[in-house]
Amino acid sequence: MPMDKRHKNLKNYKGEELTNWTEKEKESLRELWNKKPKKDILKKLPGRTWKAIQSKARREGFYNLIDDTLEKVDRMRDQELLEEISKRGYIAYKQEIKEDKEYKYDERVKTYKLGIVSDTHFGSKYQQLQHLWDFYRICEHFKVDAILHGGDVCEGNGKLYRGQLYEMFMHGAQNQLDYLVKNYPVKKGLKTYIIGGSHDYSFYKDAGYDILEHFADRRDDIEHLGYWGAFLQFGKVKIYLMHGSGGIAYARSYKMQKIIEQFAPEHKPHILLLGHYHQPCYMEGYRNIEGFQLKCFQSQTPYLKGKGYFPVLGGTILTIHQAEKGLESVDIYNKVYYVPIKDDY
Ligand SMILES: [Fe+2]
Repeated sequence: MPMDKRHKNLKNYKGEELTNWTEKEKESLRELWNKKPKKDILKKLPGRTWKAIQSKARREGFYNLIDDTLEKVDRMRDQELLEEISKRGYIAYKQEIKEDKEYKYDERVKTYKLGIVSDTHFGSKYQQLQHLWDFYRICEHFKVDAILHGGDVCEGNGKLYRGQLYEMFMHGAQNQLDYLVKNYPVKKGLKTYIIGGSHDYSFYKDAGYDILEHFADRRDDIEHLGYWGAFLQFGKVKIYLMHGSGGIAYARSYKMQKIIEQFAPEHKPHILLLGHYHQPCYMEGYRNIEGFQLKCFQSQTPYLKGKGYFPVLGGTILTIHQAEKGLESVDIYNKVYYVPIKDDY
């Protein structure tokens, strides 16, 4: 079928009518292909999409082996790439992130006292550094055994939502790491166990950079348990420390309820600590689980304001009493900071 008939009445994605390539356009393509960058080629061929230009170059035989290889590599999944590299005699591996690992702590202790924090977002203009330090002071006063952090330790790469970059005072993984090492609260003899959330993970997603692993390397009082979730066994009591995903539902308790319902019986913890939502909720004994949705240490950002969410600042101290086979009871101490501190960085 002649080209002009085939293209009659056809439109590209911009709604522009598709036309045959003119001799002048073909000449330009011949001149520019493999010599000029993509933006110059697009400028010289207005009305042609990059996809159309690529396929024309292929049909005209301008494509070479490098173009084909690059395009193929672009389309390959990580696993395929690794296999291809190993076929050529090289050793390459992608560092796996830790997820849902199990940790066991001292079994002889009868009662554990744990400080719980979450979503500290270091690097955000809305971080609440002084309140966090104050909460650590309270934890020290109450002689807690350890502190657990429910994720989003740092603000991340700034690409999680449009406009996030402008809500940050510190950009880049190295800068945020240095800032964390220097400013994250320290109390003598007190360890903080952290899991990573979506913001911490953003650096890994971007470039395979595990900021929390580096943070734990540089601070003796920090232990990195992995991303998204970790099982912690304190004597007979099993705690699942988790970072949720997605937005908060219409009802604040909904997400936690669904998470509790999804635990397989053999993985069911006694206590669930759920970070990410920045709004607290306590669900007593649902499926025999004590569910705590955690507060945060980041005041309301323009992003949250736009969505109509109001975060609650603060931390929790849980005193966990063990029974013969599991949990006997939990005492809850809630510390809420009702007034956020502006520009706390
Ligand atoms: Fe968060």
